[in-house]
Amino acid sequence: MQFAGQRAYGRPVTDEAPTLRTQVYTVLRYSDPSPAGRHWRTLHLFVLAVGLMAVVMLSVDRLETVPQAVLRWVIWAVTVIFFVEYLVRLWIAPETPRFQHHRPLWARLNWMISIEGLIGLLAVVPAVMLAGSYAISGTDAASVFCILWILKFGLHAPAFSTLARVVSNERAPIASILILFVILLMLAATAAHIFERDKQPEQFGSLPNAMWWAVVTLTTTGYGDVVPVTAGGRIMGSLLMISGISVLALMTGVLATGFAQEERRREYLRVWEHVARVPIFAALGVVTLSEIVGKLRTRYYPPRVTVVRRGDPGDSMFFISSGEVEVRLPTGGSVRLSDGAFFGEMALLERQPRSASVATTRPTTLLVLYASDFYEIASHIPALAEAVENEARRRREENLGRQATGTRR
Ligand code: CMP
Repeated sequence: MQFAGQRAYGRPVTDEAPTLRTQVYTVLRYSDPSPAGRHWRTLHLFVLAVGLMAVVMLSVDRLETVPQAVLRWVIWAVTVIFFVEYLVRLWIAPETPRFQHHRPLWARLNWMISIEGLIGLLAVVPAVMLAGSYAISGTDAASVFCILWILKFGLHAPAFSTLARVVSNERAPIASILILFVILLMLAATAAHIFERDKQPEQFGSLPNAMWWAVVTLTTTGYGDVVPVTAGGRIMGSLLMISGISVLALMTGVLATGFAQEERRREYLRVWEHVARVPIFAALGVVTLSEIVGKLRTRYYPPRVTVVRRGDPGDSMFFISSGEVEVRLPTGGSVRLSDGAFFGEMALLERQPRSASVATTRPTTLLVLYASDFYEIASHIPALAEAVENEARRRREENLGRQATGTRR
């Protein structure tokens, strides 16, 4: 509902066909799973790699294999491609979900000052330098391109946003570890300063100098440029090295656990989205459903991939969220299953090898339920177990019927 005076900006929720801008936005998203999106990302990475390679080669002053002029042309071409990409991304900015409630102009300004917009702009800075007849030659220019373009690679790494979330979620333990780091560093630097200052006034004569040694030792880097020589200094160094390993191990543990938890949370949300498309789950209450969602995993398959092979042991069953699979029956025929259907249940129920091979016919997203989770769910959600068993029985009878018809013929 829209109130008087209220204006709707961005993409309205209608049944109309998507506009060209929406379609372009969908493909250019860094997470688009469609073939067009994947092709675009591959092309983009290829252009980036070629550009960076040319830049690296340009920094070698006396390169005989590729003339400098060719390298400069490659850099030119890549810069122009990035410039066009920047303009297209500016045009589609109002489609970005977080800017959809803004006017198009405001959405574009917001995008321009976002991390993605700034990285895009920095990548085309060389174009401005070129337009201003800045000569691209020599090591300095090459390093500028390298630094600006390598940032674009980061946009292809979805793990960066996960890392930001992990750091934000785990900020309390991370802060404690950093404080512990600083305490150890100051204690060790002060002790080393006391023990070593007379013997090595150059290296340990001041606290900042002693702190450099403490950082190198605590992080277990050990350049060896500054070494304690007194007994007290060496004991201090040994204790610091052992503490360094413990502090780093603590940090690794916190980050690894945080990453695993974040990934589990994301997977949970992804599965919720897909579960709604599978009718067998529709009748279940929210509590039961949330329990099942925690046990399902999403898997994306391209076309013509065999998901289960006849005769293999069955360790999971699958629900089709979107796409289509072909069941190649042992009798020779085949059956196609699409959105909302499930397969792979017979091996679990009968504790027998797979009765047929199943392959995708088009890009397909499946929800996977592992055998142990299936048995656990089946034991306390009888309605679900019954629905799966009924369908398995119907399929078995259908297969026997087909087999009998085939034998008689
Ligand atoms: P499973 O035996 O574990 O692995 C192959 C799967 O193909 C099987 O489970 C069923 O889920 C599915 N399947 C077998 N026969 C049919 C059929 N007639 N119709 C639909 N699916 C079938």
